[in-house]
Amino acid sequence: RTVYVNGDYLPETEAKISIFDRAFLMADGVYEVTSVLGGKLIDFDGHLARLERSLNELDMKKPAAFDDLLEIHRELVRVNEIEDGLVYLQVTRGSDGDRDFVFPDPETTEPTLVLFTQSKPGLANSPQAGKGLKIISIDDLRWGRRDIKTVQLLYPSMGKMMAKKAGCDDAWMIEDGHVTEGTSNNAYIVKGNKIITRQLSNDILHGITRAAVLRFAREAQMEVEERPFTIDEAKAADEGFITSASAFVMPVVEIDGQTLGDGAPGPVARRLREIYLDESL
Ligand code: PDD
Repeated sequence: RTVYVNGDYLPETEAKISIFDRAFLMADGVYEVTSVLGGKLIDFDGHLARLERSLNELDMKKPAAFDDLLEIHRELVRVNEIEDGLVYLQVTRGSDGDRDFVFPDPETTEPTLVLFTQSKPGLANSPQAGKGLKIISIDDLRWGRRDIKTVQLLYPSMGKMMAKKAGCDDAWMIEDGHVTEGTSNNAYIVKGNKIITRQLSNDILHGITRAAVLRFAREAQMEVEERPFTIDEAKAADEGFITSASAFVMPVVEIDGQTLGDGAPGPVARRLREIYLDESL
C-alpha cells in the first residue's frame, strides 16, 4: 500500500514520524475518514469543512490547501486501486523535537500530515445491514469537546471492547441519562414516523453523514426531531439506527438485551440507507 506523509508518497513500510510528534505523545491531532464507493469520494467537501473547523478550534495550522488535499485523496485511491473503502487523513501539531505541555511555536513547527487508504470490497453491501446491530449502553466518559474530531479514541475503543465482550456490536454512550452518540457514529431512534436524534452541540461529533441523512429525510417528508433522548426511550422505540462515513446508515435492533420492534431492521432505517447510497453513488 502506498501512503502519504508530509509531501511524499511512500510504501507504508518506509513512512516515518518523529517519536516526539505531539499526536504520539499527547493525542494532539485531528482526523477525518472519507468513504470511497465505486472509486468515488463520498461527501469530501463536508469532511474537509469539518477538518478546518477542528484545526481552528485547536489553533492548529492547515497543512495544505483544499485542492491539494483533494488531489492527495484522489491519487491514493488511484495508486492503491480502491474501489470501495476509506481514506484516512490525520493532521497533528507536529513537534519541535522534545516533550512539553506548552504548544511548540507555530512559526517554526510544521504540522504532520498523514493519509492512507483501507480497501473494503463490497462496503455498501455489508451483510450487517440486513441483520442490524446489537448495542449496549455505557457511561460517556469522554472529554467535553466531542465536536472536535481528535485522535483521543481510547475510551471509544474501550467501549467497543465492552460491547464485544457482551456479545454485541457497539455501544451507545450515556450522559445525564441521555444518549450522546455511538463509539464512532451518531445515534437515532424512530417513534412512529418520527426520527429523533440529539441536536448539534459540543457533546457530539457533527457527523457529515448525519447532515446528509437528515437532509434526505426532510426532503422525503419524514419528520425529524433534534433533541436528546433517554436510553429508556430508546429501548421502547420502534427502531434505531446509526450513521457514519464507514457504516452509512446501519439499523439497530437491540439495546441492552431489549429488542426494538420485531427485532428486524426497521423500514425507516432501511429506506434512509437506500436513499443515502442511491444519492452517493
Ligand atoms: N467516526 N460520532 C463519532 C464519535 C465518530 O467517531 C464518528 C465518525 C461519527 C460520524 O461522523 P461521520 O458521519 O462524519 O463519519 C459520529 C469515523 C468514521 C471513525 O472514527 O472511523
